[in-house]
Amino acid sequence: MKNVFPSPHPLVAHKLGILRSADTDPQSFRELVREIAALMTYEATADLMTKSITVNTPLAPAPGVELQENIGLVPILRAGLGMVEGVWELVPNAQVWHIGLYRDERTLKPVEYYNKLPVEPTVSVTLILDPMLATGGSAVATIDILKRWGVKKIKFVGILGAPEGIQQMQEKHPEVPIHLAVIDDHLNENGFIVPGLGDAGDRQFGTG
Ligand code: PRP
Repeated sequence: MKNVFPSPHPLVAHKLGILRSADTDPQSFRELVREIAALMTYEATADLMTKSITVNTPLAPAPGVELQENIGLVPILRAGLGMVEGVWELVPNAQVWHIGLYRDERTLKPVEYYNKLPVEPTVSVTLILDPMLATGGSAVATIDILKRWGVKKIKFVGILGAPEGIQQMQEKHPEVPIHLAVIDDHLNENGFIVPGLGDAGDRQFGTG
């Protein structure tokens, strides 16, 4: 699948196994979401633009590089919130712009309830953060919002993706790369990813 990047990394796969387990408590679940988000960020930012600089070591000048891009994180509330801290560990200066969407349980369509983006874009690249790409409705709606805002470079960084959601993304926004820890098997009749991990929002916030 073009523009879809399941993680090849054994650390991600190992942590994902613990994350999935029904025995993992909310505290451990939150830690794992943060750690996996950091590892996923390492993979998703491999093509960021840099510029050459010179740094002075205690001995001599050395060639170095500096990030040229202004990075924005867009966690989709609620479940995406838990990924922010992990990404910040690697990109501490990233701006965070929250988008609130929930999925209507009956229609499975996203409903927007929070968006305080300023009029003009303030970043050159955005990473959309959401552990779950199920039908893809929330991710597609968020990309619609970011494109209207004017951001040119958008990436989706998630943990689990269903084939249905990936297909929806590729139909609506084929140029947006999708970084996932893993692609799962299918969606069930309630729109839950199977085998999945349950509800990522409820499991992080202890509301299940
Ligand atoms: C979940 C999940 C995604 C969305 C994925 O959020 O965190 O945002 O559903 O589904 P989709 O791909 O079919 O749109 P949920 O609506 O449960 O809200 P929450 O994060 O507040 O629990």
